[in-house]
Amino acid sequence: MTLSYLTPDFDSYPCDHEITAVEASSSVLNLTWSDGRKSRYHACWLADNDAGSVETNPLTREREIDFDDLPENIAIQQASVAADGRLEIQWNVDWPGSIYLPGWLRAHDYSNTPVSDDGLRAATTWTAEDMPEPPTSDGTSILEDDEALAIWLENLAQYGLARLSNVATTDGQVAEVVRRIGPIRPTNFGFTYDVKTKENPDSNAYTDMALNSHTDLATREYQPGLQFLHCLKNSTTGGAGTMVDGFQVAGDIRSENPEVFKILSTWDWVFTNRAVDTDYRWTTPLFVLDENGELSELRMTSFLRGPLAIPFDKVEAAYEAYRYLILKIKQPKYRLLFDYKPGDLVAYDNRRILHGREAFSSGTGERWLQGCYSERDELRSRLRILARGRRAAANKRSTGNTGQ
Ligand SMILES: [Fe+2]
Repeated sequence: MTLSYLTPDFDSYPCDHEITAVEASSSVLNLTWSDGRKSRYHACWLADNDAGSVETNPLTREREIDFDDLPENIAIQQASVAADGRLEIQWNVDWPGSIYLPGWLRAHDYSNTPVSDDGLRAATTWTAEDMPEPPTSDGTSILEDDEALAIWLENLAQYGLARLSNVATTDGQVAEVVRRIGPIRPTNFGFTYDVKTKENPDSNAYTDMALNSHTDLATREYQPGLQFLHCLKNSTTGGAGTMVDGFQVAGDIRSENPEVFKILSTWDWVFTNRAVDTDYRWTTPLFVLDENGELSELRMTSFLRGPLAIPFDKVEAAYEAYRYLILKIKQPKYRLLFDYKPGDLVAYDNRRILHGREAFSSGTGERWLQGCYSERDELRSRLRILARGRRAAANKRSTGNTGQ
């Protein structure tokens, strides 16, 4: 049996544990590991996840067959550990045998623990009392150094907010920084956009007025996952940036007032953004939950709220819940304030963090922020690739090969 590669992806799977015992029935494989862990895998799962070239394209590492192409009654005939530690399986039907790396089997051990989304940190919610300053990294090092990039991005994934300092104050530099993560999401405001006072503004952002805590573009079916604001110039007075962790606020409301939480997470509001040649609108609860009932995002572009359109009997309760939320968001304990200095670049999860600013005096100087959007997907992909690079290096040190 020969295989040109051993994993159905481009990752490496260094493993500190050996398989010490193998038992198999026709339908279930039982493994015992050198640290005592016991793992179980179904025959159908193993057959479905074979990395052999019959099933997986060796160049793309994508599946080449569908599940119904496998023999319907495929079952384990024999399972054993080869001299090099890999697991070998022979099937009861006319189908090529399979080989599995121990590290890959451990990483996908669904019988013990849910498989973790490697490279990501779980969200840590915060108040301004917990975190009075955004976590800050050096903006020059992240352009060249993957470890520095990983630290910045891990903070962004964990806290939903991470700042860079010393970013070159040149037009378009925000796009260069974001390209270290992934593609930019263009909008009707452009590929990047300038946040500065304009004579005929098409957004409140382009005035010097205060902006209440909000997410951007709740008017879209899919709200941008990431936002970046880079300060190129700021000699004005006032205009402190504000950041509120919406997951913290919503979590507190959930425990303090479940009835309000239920209204905010199930009753629809309308967001609209109408201009001369565009007309965006979306209808959505303010708290969006995932299939497990956990917070997935907040939608809160308050200055783009359209007329409420829900059943007559619900209107007053909807406004009451909305007022409760607004008052909560405005509590100082949630509001992290910071000054924009030239060279600062703040990155935040636009579907979690509510951003805003205090009013500034446009007559006192010049203020120029440049922004753009990207997606949570791009952040997660980059973090996984950075983690993959670390695993490949570790594997190479321990085995002398890439382990792929
Ligand atoms: Fe905004």
